[in-house]
Amino acid sequence: MKKEIWVVKFGGSLLSDAKARRGFLKQIAAVSRRRAVVLVHGGGPEINAALAKMGMAPKFVKGRRYTDEATLGVVEGVLSGQVNKALAAELNSMGAKAVGLSGRDGRLITARALAGLGRVGAPAKADPGVLKTLLAGGWLPVVSPVASDARGRALNINADEAASALAVALKAARLVFLTDVAGILDAGKKTIPVVRCRGIQDLIDGGVITGGMIPKSLSCRSAIEKGVHEIDIIDGRAGLAKMKGTRILP
Ligand SMILES: Nc1ncnc2c1ncn2[C@@H]1O[C@H](COP(=O)(O)OP(=O)(O)OP(=O)(O)O)[C@@H](O)[C@H]1O
Ligand SMILES: [Mg+2]
Repeated sequence: MKKEIWVVKFGGSLLSDAKARRGFLKQIAAVSRRRAVVLVHGGGPEINAALAKMGMAPKFVKGRRYTDEATLGVVEGVLSGQVNKALAAELNSMGAKAVGLSGRDGRLITARALAGLGRVGAPAKADPGVLKTLLAGGWLPVVSPVASDARGRALNINADEAASALAVALKAARLVFLTDVAGILDAGKKTIPVVRCRGIQDLIDGGVITGGMIPKSLSCRSAIEKGVHEIDIIDGRAGLAKMKGTRILP
């Protein structure tokens, strides 16, 4: 594959914002005609809504969802069923050639269970073969963050970590995280334009980076350490063209 590859992560926090979602998907559909793009999506609020309908309460530990067996069923149904298929269909209606798949398809992401979080895992191995085949054919892969463990059982993985693992495996030129804030904000809620990898742990320890921004910033650091050079966390409501947010540097 000669074209440079972009991995773009679309936060679940943006899915319910119909205007932001449509605007962004139109941009991705256009970009995917010229470039090799892999889209990874989250779905936190959709999972919470589905859990609420079933009378189940979400539980978080350091920005990660505690996932028991019952919750895992809801997580996989929402992410790999509902959200993944809806995004692929919406992109296709905009003229893209989107194909929805999860980390469990094509041995894409094998994860290892994390202690104390139930059926939650961290990506241990990414096999990007199926993505390379799709990209070579001009398709736009849309990936949901559910992986298999070594025995083939489902694990809920963080979408940011999935995007980072895929960007590394694909030797992507760019990794962009679209979320519902304009990048990493300081204690006064102002965007920090550039964050260095070595400064991330201090921002976490100092309580500036909390919740979902913890796995996101650590995923950036890990991708940089493994050779992805251009990484941004940006405001998904402003879209890909404006790039309002934080550039992560080594
Ligand atoms: N220093 C910080 N700067 C910006 N956001 C922060 C910071 N610390 C914590 N956050 C929180 O991180 C959130 C973004 O992470 P979150 O996991 O909620 O969204 P996402 O990753 O885009 O969506 P999903 O997890 O569903 O894919 C922000 O909405 C904000 O509440
Ligand atoms: Mg998140």
